[in-house]
Formats: sequence, structure tokens, C-alpha cells
Amino acid sequence: MTKPTMGPALAAAVALVLAGTAGADTIKVGVVAPFSGPFAMYGKQFKDAIDVYVAEHGTKAGDHEVQFIYKDTGGPNPDTAKSVTQELLVKDGVNYLAGYTFTPNALAVAPLVDQAQVPTVIFNAATSIITTKSPYFVRTSFTTPQVAGPLADWAIAQGIKTVVTSVTDYGPGIDAEKGFVKEFEAKGGKIVDSIRMPIATSDFSPFMQRIKAAAPNALFTFIPAGPPAFAFVKSYSDNGLSAAGVQFLGTGDLDEETTLQGLGDAALGIHTSFPYSVAHESAMNTQFKADLAKVDPGAVANFASVGAYDGTEALYRMIAAGGTDGDAGLKAVLGASWESPRGPVSIDPKTHHITENMYIRVVAKDDKGQLINKEIETIKDVPDLGLVSK
Ligand code: PHB
Repeated sequence: MTKPTMGPALAAAVALVLAGTAGADTIKVGVVAPFSGPFAMYGKQFKDAIDVYVAEHGTKAGDHEVQFIYKDTGGPNPDTAKSVTQELLVKDGVNYLAGYTFTPNALAVAPLVDQAQVPTVIFNAATSIITTKSPYFVRTSFTTPQVAGPLADWAIAQGIKTVVTSVTDYGPGIDAEKGFVKEFEAKGGKIVDSIRMPIATSDFSPFMQRIKAAAPNALFTFIPAGPPAFAFVKSYSDNGLSAAGVQFLGTGDLDEETTLQGLGDAALGIHTSFPYSVAHESAMNTQFKADLAKVDPGAVANFASVGAYDGTEALYRMIAAGGTDGDAGLKAVLGASWESPRGPVSIDPKTHHITENMYIRVVAKDDKGQLINKEIETIKDVPDLGLVSK
């Protein structure tokens, strides 16, 4: 039997009907992230989390059908971020924007977002200043000072007195360094060296030698999650820093769960601070992981997943309340609070940034022998310490 084909008239009619269903009351959301290249993890985690949210809540926010349109930046490429955002605004006519993994990409689109007056939910980019660049930004991830401050306090409480900081030399790294140093020194700790590493580096041996030579009680580090962060942790053990008694303190970007098993036993005992651990014990996190397994069997959740999942919650709240009226949407989310797989969260109406618990975690093994970020201490309701202190 031959397959029936549509005549041109019928095809045109179908196209019209489809256009009709995706017409007046469909709200379009443009999602900008790396879907290719070494940081493609983010795009996948974002899309999976959106799919989970939609599977749980349906395709409608209030009365509005929601359509997501994805664009690839390939990584930290501000020019590409700008051009795909422009395309989403002008060609696709999106009503809302979301995603943005890297600080330079988020900063590059601030003038576009501001001019178009399109609410934009940052799913990841973690430099404090971003949300001050347009009132249309809302952020559901974390900032590096928000993560680093509580870790500095914890370090002091453990009797750690001397630290070398080593961070990637761009926005979130510099913010992480400042956030850690400020808190650590205020409590009597001493920074014996501060290293800023180029963003493109993946050979960390020279830095490890420098840290080893300074012989601090601990190192503190931030590197954006991805292959360089993984290489840094490997380098820490390969260069014998652990054996030399230098403890590892970092933001949770360093040992995020999509690559955690690959770090192997060398990662046991490293301490990080972060808003989300896959091992977080709550009914909501259990449900989130089960629903993720349904949309993408074998997928591992991580911080990027909850950044996007809560970001989608923010988008649905805005769309339900405001529809095409972005300003009305924005109002509905500022000050809002909800339960997340990471714990309780709220959106600070002043900073447009998420207030959330920070967890101090240690890499340990669960009863199946898998490496986990085991939460050992909770610091409740932490705001963006970077903006608060400015
Ligand atoms: C950022 O560029 O702001 C950024 C990227 C990746 C991270 C954290 C922050 O893991």
C-alpha cells in the first residue's frame, strides 16, 4: 500500500490550523544554553528539567499554552548569545527568555532584555552583578559569594586557619574569591596566596605545585562546572595535595553529579558548599529524580537541573499571572516562595535573586558504593551575599 500524501491545499489548511493552535494564546519561551561543545551538559540538564516540569504540570500555565524554543550558544560565547537572543526576540517573537549558563553571555544580553522588556530567568550564570543589569532578570541558581561565604564560616569552625584561594579569572571566580576571603578574614582566617587561573586552562599542575609550596591548611576553589573543573579535582589528588595535608574546599561546581563517579575514590573527603545535592533527602527530591528517570532514563540530576526546574516554576508563575504582559508576570514572581527539590526557596524582590539553603557536603559513599555529595550541615535561607555586601 502506498502511503497517503497530503495535497498542497490540505497541507496549507493543516498549516493554518497548526498556526492557529500555536497562535494568540501560546506564550513562547526562548531557552539559550550550550547544547554542543564541552559544556553541552548544561543544555541537556536544562531541557530535561523543563521536560520534567512540563510532564508534572502540563503544557499550560494558567490559561496559556507554553512553547519552549531552544538555541545553542556552544559555550561561553557572548556574541553568539547575543545573536541567538536577538533572533528569539525578533524572529520568533518570544515573550520570555531563560537559560544562560555563563556570566559573559548573560551580561551580553542585558541591554537586549532591557530594551525588549522581556522577563528573563537566569538558570545558572552566577556572578552577583548580573541581576542589577536589568530589572527584567530573575535568577534561580546561586551566586558564588552565596556559596563561598558559608563555606568560609564552616572552615573556621573546623579549625582551618590558612587557605590558598584558586579561582577561574572571570566574574563568578572573582566573586567567589571575594566572598570567601571576606568571610574567612573577618573570622580570623589567613589567606596565604590567591591564584586566578585562565578560563581555558586544563593543566593545573603548576597551580597545584604553587599551592603545595604555600602549605596551607586548605585550598578554596571555584571553576565553572565542566571538563576543567573535573581536571582540577583530578590534579589535586594526582599532585599529592591530599597526602600533603592540604584539605579541599570548593563550590559544588567542582564535583557536580554528572561527573562525580568519574572522579573515583580520590574525591572521597573533599568538602564543597552548594544549594543542591542529588543526595538531598526530601520527598520532593525523590519525586523529582523519579520523574527525571521517566523523561530521560539514566539521566543524573545536578545543580543545573534544579536551576532550570525552579526557573520553569518561575516562568509558569509569570505566564499564568501575566501572559503576554511581562511586567505583570514579573510582579507575580518577585517575593514568591515555593518548595524545590533543593529545599525551600524564594525570590528576593530587591535583588531578583533566589534565597535558598546552602549545604556543606562531603564526598562519601552511599550503601551501593556510589559517590555522593553527603550533606553534613545546612545554612538556612541564604541571600545573595555578593549583592548584600556591595
Ligand atoms: C558563570 O559563568 O557564571 C558560571 C558558569 C558555570 C558554573 C558557575 C558559574 O558552574
